[in-house]
Amino acid sequence: MTDDRERWNEKYSADDEFGLPDDPIPELARRVDTLPAGRALDVATGTGRNARFLAAEGYDVDAVDVSDEALDRARRAADGVDVNWIRSDIEAFEFDADAYDVITVSFFAMLDRLPDLVEALKPGGVLVYEHHLRSSDDIDIGPSSDRYRYPSNHLLHACLDLTILHYAERTRPDAEGRTQAVATLVARNSTGGAQSYPRIEE
Ligand SMILES: C[S@@+](CC[C@H](N)C(=O)[O-])C[C@H]1O[C@@H](n2cnc3c(N)ncnc32)[C@H](O)[C@@H]1O
Repeated sequence: MTDDRERWNEKYSADDEFGLPDDPIPELARRVDTLPAGRALDVATGTGRNARFLAAEGYDVDAVDVSDEALDRARRAADGVDVNWIRSDIEAFEFDADAYDVITVSFFAMLDRLPDLVEALKPGGVLVYEHHLRSSDDIDIGPSSDRYRYPSNHLLHACLDLTILHYAERTRPDAEGRTQAVATLVARNSTGGAQSYPRIEE
């Protein structure tokens, strides 16, 4: 058993209150109509909120997590929505090349494997990535140590070989009104000085 598997299984079993939100990350919901249809991968899916949402939107979804307990919860929450749940440590996960139209990563740091994520995207495929951000504001939720939060612009800089469709850093209330600081990126596997962009209603 890897350290991550054991640690996260304990976290999910010991703490019924380790409640991850049920709704997908807001930027994914806001943009889903503009994303290419087809196959999606949700990395470190947890209880599967992004994966379930994408499957309900018609995607053929692979969802990976190291924790058996998380995937048990995800399966129970799926309630008829079909997702290919994969129990794997992401360190050992073999990404298929040119496989996915959409890849989502939320609240899991994996920029060290960004080249694998990019390779796994089809041409024109879109990466939606959200993570905890360092902030001098009063923050209610997320890691207590800045070590586990991205500094300003870190996520943006890492993804500059992709076409950045959206990048924002902000504090916002979660579903229970607690303040969180997040960096959100939407980036496409495309190149060219004059490209086509989806129209997003503000
Ligand atoms: C903070 S939760 C986020 C879950 C989900 N993405 C969300 O936003 O609701 C982080 C998740 O990463 C998973 N995880 C941690 N280390 C992992 C690894 N090495 N490989 C795959 N998943 C991992 C944990 O089991 C946990 O479900």
